[in-house]
Amino acid sequence: MANVLVTGGAGFIGSHLVDFLVNKDYEVTILDNLSTGNVSNLKQAFMKDRVTFVQGDVRDFVTVSKCVREKDAVIHLAALTNIPRSMENETETFDVNTKSRVCSPFPKTTGASPCSTLSMNSRITAP
Ligand SMILES: NC(=O)c1ccc[n+]([C@@H]2O[C@H](COP(=O)([O-])OP(=O)(O)OC[C@H]3O[C@@H](n4cnc5c(N)ncnc54)[C@H](O)[C@@H]3O)[C@@H](O)[C@H]2O)c1
Repeated sequence: MANVLVTGGAGFIGSHLVDFLVNKDYEVTILDNLSTGNVSNLKQAFMKDRVTFVQGDVRDFVTVSKCVREKDAVIHLAALTNIPRSMENETETFDVNTKSRVCSPFPKTTGASPCSTLSMNSRITAP
């Protein structure tokens, strides 16, 4: 069965996706630094033995390189999504949302675009 990495898997969308994947018998690795997510979102998934949780940061090349090894696909959902918080912590939000190391070593990556990045971009380009 396919082996999938879900970044941000302890978050809202990620944890539901992880439940879906384990119920379809996928082997799932979750990479999440728990900055806003919570392992309690993964209670159901942890009942299966096909889940591996890695607490780490998507900006860390070594961690990401280990996590993507031998994966068939990566679903990249790790992000800082809170818009007011993104205005207060622009640099961190920009770094997490645009400088993750997930895409660089692995071509079969898909994910969602964080709305806080869009809001930051529109703020940056505003006259
Ligand atoms: N929730 C929605 O309705 C919605 C709609 C459209 C798009 N999206 C996008 O889907 C993605 C996930 O959204 P969500 O609602 O599940 O957000 P969420 O905040 O619930 O989950 C994001 C997860 O990423 C983790 N994370 C943050 N920074 C990290 C880092 N540096 N390294 C590793 N993990 C990190 C957090 O701990 C959290 O578990 C985002 O890109 C979001 O913009 C969400």
